[in-house]
Amino acid sequence: MTHIAADATAELTLTVNGRETTLAVAPRTTLSDVLRDRLGLTGTHVGCEHGVCGMCTVLVDGEAARACLLFAVQCEGAEITTVEGLGSAGDQHPLQRAFSHHHALQCGFCTPGMLMSSYDLLAGGTYDEATLAEDMSGVLCRCTGYRGILAAVADVAVAHPEGVPAPRAAVPAALVGRSGSASAAAPASGHDEDAAGAPAEITVPSGPPTVTVEVEEALASPVEDVWAVLADFERLAACLPGAEMTADLGGGRYRGAAKVALGPVSLAFDGLAHVVEHDPAAHVMRVLAQGADRGGSSTHAVIRLAADGREDGGTTLRAGADVHLSGRVAQFGRALAGDVSRRLFEQFAASVDEAARTGEAPAPRSGPSPVRLVLAALRARLRAVLRRRRDARTAGS
Ligand code: FES
Ligand code: FES
Repeated sequence: MTHIAADATAELTLTVNGRETTLAVAPRTTLSDVLRDRLGLTGTHVGCEHGVCGMCTVLVDGEAARACLLFAVQCEGAEITTVEGLGSAGDQHPLQRAFSHHHALQCGFCTPGMLMSSYDLLAGGTYDEATLAEDMSGVLCRCTGYRGILAAVADVAVAHPEGVPAPRAAVPAALVGRSGSASAAAPASGHDEDAAGAPAEITVPSGPPTVTVEVEEALASPVEDVWAVLADFERLAACLPGAEMTADLGGGRYRGAAKVALGPVSLAFDGLAHVVEHDPAAHVMRVLAQGADRGGSSTHAVIRLAADGREDGGTTLRAGADVHLSGRVAQFGRALAGDVSRRLFEQFAASVDEAARTGEAPAPRSGPSPVRLVLAALRARLRAVLRRRRDARTAGS
């Protein structure tokens, strides 16, 4: 048996919904936390976290298991199937169709656990109408929706006497690399905190992000030059308006500071960035970032960057970010936060283009003027509203 110090991280490789992923986890991290918080598979619900309610039921090597009762490191090398792998919106598993047909849910909180538990029951070939209620009693429904649930499971059992079809899809987890080889390397120190107190693991909150931004910019520089900037984190950080890298912690982890000023709100974030995917062949990278300021604001983001060469010799730079905001910074509505994020990206893309062209890090610059940034975003929003009103008037006349 391998012993892992409580304050160390271990490298863990799992196959989740058919995709292999490797990530660094603390030994105390449960499988449910890894699925939800590290891989973004929030279909696995968590209720009691004591093995009682069954909400967190997933398949581990084909058998139903409580993800809240398993340490992730116990699952090294295991095949995990979550409800996201059972079927998709466009290709539902028969159990999902039957649950829908029988309206086998009210709030739906127990539904992922019910689906995975009933799949285990039917795949095991142990369906018996007389004992179905008892067989399904490992998952609790607080909305008393049991009648529909049992009817749905019975329907599928009757329709598939030879055995229920296998899970449909190998659904990529949100943080799993495109190539299926995402690697979140353990920090060099192997400790939970570095000397400066930065946490070793970035935990992106579960639940929908405050704002999701998808933007692209056309750059004049060739893709290899652009990628050379993205691949060098120091140069990359220098292109971020108002940001600076303060320490290279090893293992793809960096400490940094960023000043963000939005109108009257001025924030100075200290944070951590972790490059969890870096694919030089596809020119794709993914970074987890988190930051906190003294005033209690915090931000977490999953950032995706991709550079595609164009026929004219230039590059299309794409960025996507799922951003979670809390504290004062969350006072800004989604729309304004999205507009400001887009403008920051435009400035970032221009700096990357300049760095790619000159082969140097761009000259240090302060963050964008807070007033100009917000005013520009508000002006753009106002113009869009006026345009929509004008179009509506034109259409109505
Ligand atoms: S959350 Fe795992 S059994 Fe309740
Ligand atoms: S449908 Fe609400 S808990 Fe089951």
